[in-house]
Amino acid sequence: MREKKLYRDILDGIGNTPLIKLNQITKELKADIFAKLEYMNSMGSVKDRIAKYMVEKAEKEGRIKPGDTIVDNSSGNTALALAMVCALKGYHLKIVVRDNLSSEKIKFLKAMNVELIMIDHTLPPESPNSYNNIAPRIARETPNGYYLDQHNNRENNEAHYLSTGPETWEQMEGKIDYFVAGVGTGGTICGVSKFLKEKDSGINVIGVDPVGSIFFDYFHSKKIVKPSPYFLEGLGDEFLIGCVDFSLIDDIYQITDKEAFLMTRELADKEAILAGGSSGATMWASLKLAREVDKPVRIATIFADSATRYLSTIYNDDWLMEKGIL
Ligand SMILES: Cc1ncc(COP(=O)(O)O)c(C=O)c1O
Repeated sequence: MREKKLYRDILDGIGNTPLIKLNQITKELKADIFAKLEYMNSMGSVKDRIAKYMVEKAEKEGRIKPGDTIVDNSSGNTALALAMVCALKGYHLKIVVRDNLSSEKIKFLKAMNVELIMIDHTLPPESPNSYNNIAPRIARETPNGYYLDQHNNRENNEAHYLSTGPETWEQMEGKIDYFVAGVGTGGTICGVSKFLKEKDSGINVIGVDPVGSIFFDYFHSKKIVKPSPYFLEGLGDEFLIGCVDFSLIDDIYQITDKEAFLMTRELADKEAILAGGSSGATMWASLKLAREVDKPVRIATIFADSATRYLSTIYNDDWLMEKGIL
């Protein structure tokens, strides 16, 4: 819950997000489902936590100093979170994004004066100019460049192990049967999972992965399938990446864009929660789980960001129709 206090600065408003019981969308279910509203962080997403933690840790260990340039690839939320941290701490920022990012995220990033490197989202992952390959090269070629590498740097997971995990445990009063989260970089799900499983090894952790990403198939059959494009932002990848530790995940569900987006809209209609598409995905997975288990279990999940970043897409019927979703 938000604390009753005077905040030192905008970074002080990161963490301690509300965990909300969902009462409407769950009406017919035996399970209770609780959502952690990560869009209540200062810059509006779960990624505020890692941006602050990873920059401060690198600073403390002497890997970076004010004036240096931080480089990373991002689906937008980490970029915005880093823009906030860099503005306050005096770093330059270069961000690699795919050119199919929602226009709202691009506008927010421009409002924060972030230097954007736009990548053709149809480039194959093995291309030297692909989203995943170009950022480390830019960091190497930039004087005093530092590649944060949210996809492989386990300090991402550590941020969640130290904050999101303990907060969820405390807010749930130590009574959790399942934790459900999307798998993007894997930082949230694996960091929280490690903390929760240390507290109670009986907690089951369920990931959500979009059709088109490789994590679902790799988890279930150890096969790496050919990735294909999808519209859900923030989840999935076309490579195996270092922050996804499959040993901390008990099951992964696969979701279509349509399932995620329609559930996102239902969340607004039924719970008055204006969340982003990955929240629709974790909601959909939590409901699927609750129906399958069919017992009075307690499920905690993550709503990573808000509708403000998807008004022209998920919340726009014309866009949904154009994409064949409505
Ligand atoms: C909207 C959204 N939801 C969920 C995630 C997944 O979080 P993580 O990268 O910690 O797996 C991301 C990551 O970028 C995101 O942007």
